[in-house]
Amino acid sequence: MAKVISFINLKGGVGKTTLLVTTAEVLACEHNKKVLVIDLDPQTNATVLLISQERWKKANENNRTIHQLFLDKVEGTTAFDINKSIIKGVSNIGDGISNLDLLPSSIDLIDIYDKVSGLNYNNNLIKILKEQLEILDNQYDYILVDCPPNLGAITMCGIYMSQYYIIPVIADTLSTYGLNQVIRKINEKAREIKRIEDTYSIKPLGIVINRYRDNKPYTSIKAGLELKSKNREIPKLFETVIYNRSTISNICDYSESENTIRGKYKKEFSTIDNLVKEIIERC
Ligand SMILES: Nc1ncnc2c1ncn2[C@@H]1O[C@H](COP(=O)(O)OP(=O)(O)OP(=O)(O)O)[C@@H](O)[C@H]1O
Ligand SMILES: [Mg+2]
Repeated sequence: MAKVISFINLKGGVGKTTLLVTTAEVLACEHNKKVLVIDLDPQTNATVLLISQERWKKANENNRTIHQLFLDKVEGTTAFDINKSIIKGVSNIGDGISNLDLLPSSIDLIDIYDKVSGLNYNNNLIKILKEQLEILDNQYDYILVDCPPNLGAITMCGIYMSQYYIIPVIADTLSTYGLNQVIRKINEKAREIKRIEDTYSIKPLGIVINRYRDNKPYTSIKAGLELKSKNREIPKLFETVIYNRSTISNICDYSESENTIRGKYKKEFSTIDNLVKEIIERC
C-alpha cells in the first residue's frame, strides 16, 4: 500500500513545497520508488516546480487538475478522471523522471474554497481524495501531498488520506511558535475524523529544520527544539538539518534543467538524501 505523507505547517514560506519536491525527486531517482505528488495548494508551487507553465496551462484548460475533483463535488458532476489527470514522468531532471508523477493543482481552486469551506462530514467531502486511492490501486510506493498553509476543507481531505505528516519548520521565533499550534490543530482534526471513522489515524513522521544558519537565533532555537523533542513535547526532529542554500532556492526555476539528480542538487544532494533515508526508515 502506498505510504501517504502530507507536508504541512500553518506558517507559509517554511519550505513545505521545496522539501516535498526534493524528497519526491530523490525518492524516485535515487531510491527507485514509484512516487506521486498531489498538489493541493492553489498557489500551484509544487506543480510549476515539476512541469512547465505551458504543460500546466494545457492541463488546466482541459480541466485535468485537482480543481475538477472538487468542482464535481460542488456541481454534482463526474468529469474528473484521476488516471487522465495524472501527469507522468515529471521533473526538470533529464526528460523527466519516469517513476515520478504529478496530480497538478490549479489557481481556480481558490474559487472552490468558499463553496467547500466548513468541512461537512455529512456530504462526505472529506473522503473525496482518499476514494481516489482505490482507483490508483497500489500503483505508488509513496504519495506526497503538498498542503497550503491552512487547515481548510481541502487540506483536511489531504490529511484524511494521509497516514503520516511531516512538519517543515524554520528555526526562528515565529515558526516555532506556530509549531505547537499546528500539532494541536491536527490532533483536534484527527479526533473529529475519528468520530466518523474510528480506525482513522495520522502520525507525525517528524519535524524537519529548514533554511538553517549556524548563528543566532537559529542555533539557540534549534537547541530548544532538540530538548523539546527529546522530552517528547513535540514530534521527533529529523536528524538531518537543511541549511539555507541558494542551490535549494534555485530549484524554483523549472527552466533550469539538469541531466542528473546529483547535477541538480550539487553539494546539497547528500543532505537531502539523508533526509529521504530517514523518511523511508520512519515510515
Ligand atoms: N533550504 C533552503 N534554502 C534556501 N531557500 C529555501 C530553502 N527552502 C526553501 N527555500 C525558499 O523559501 C521560499 C519558500 O519555500 P516554499 O515555497 O517551499 O515554502 P512553503 O512552506 O511551501 O510556502 P507556502 O506556505 O506559501 O506554500 C522559496 O522561495 C524557496 O525557494
Ligand atoms: Mg508551498
